[in-house]
Amino acid sequence: MSTPILSVEDLRVSYGRVEAVRGVSFAVEQGSLVTLVGANGAGKSSVINAVSGLLRPAGGRITFQGRDVTRTPAHKLVGRGLVQVPEGRQILATLTIEENLQMGAWHTRGTAQRSIDAVYDRFPVLAERRALPAGALSGGEQQMLAIARALVAAPAVVLMDEPSMGLAPKIVDEVFRVIEEIRASGTTVVLVEQNARRALRAADHGYVLQSGEVVHSGPAAGLLADERIVQAYLGIEGTPGQR
Ligand SMILES: Nc1ncnc2c1ncn2[C@@H]1O[C@H](COP(=O)(O)OP(=O)(O)OP(=O)(O)O)[C@@H](O)[C@H]1O
Ligand SMILES: [Mg+2]
Repeated sequence: MSTPILSVEDLRVSYGRVEAVRGVSFAVEQGSLVTLVGANGAGKSSVINAVSGLLRPAGGRITFQGRDVTRTPAHKLVGRGLVQVPEGRQILATLTIEENLQMGAWHTRGTAQRSIDAVYDRFPVLAERRALPAGALSGGEQQMLAIARALVAAPAVVLMDEPSMGLAPKIVDEVFRVIEEIRASGTTVVLVEQNARRALRAADHGYVLQSGEVVHSGPAAGLLADERIVQAYLGIEGTPGQR
């Protein structure tokens, strides 16, 4: 196996006395799509926020492109190519679409407009409406903007936290199509989802989290094909957790 672009070893995250992540390890091969799935409160966001530098881990080690980034803050990681699409989109509703995208490119200095134009090519709906306030977009379009804003930073690895959350099924299809395109363009993707089946169908490799620990991992197709895992952790299609 080649050296992974991102690896997480024995990661621990605590909120006061609550141990949310209790020794999680996983590795992400360059160009692959890896998903972390698990129920509400399993620790998915805590893991992803620690990896992106938004949260300081209580223990463990995070390595990105061969460098230890365990305690590197998010704004530095963005410049190095490790970028998160935050949970809940967090676009700025009163700023225009263009201004939101400029925020994604703040660290690129002179090359911002070029990377924004490249993103417009992929998201024509954003290009057409670049001068409108982001708050005028639908929920699905706002999610596209949040993803586009991360892509403006020309990341090597994109981390996504529940990008399909709260969206209508047709829009969820679109979000997953975009995720698969990003991966097809050579960008590595780490996707956190409660929508486990959907995420595993798109992924190469999956990790199932429960109570802050990895309880299963392997090729995504294998996890999906394992009836015991599906029954125990992935729920029944159509139940609320599955969307
Ligand atoms: N800021 C916080 N303060 C205290 N406890 C927290 C905080 N954030 C998360 N937790 C707790 O840590 C655990 C893991 O939460 P986390 O948000 O990482 O899970 P998750 O898998 O992302 O869940 P969800 O699917 O609901 O987004 C939960 O028990 C949660 O209550
Ligand atoms: Mg979460």
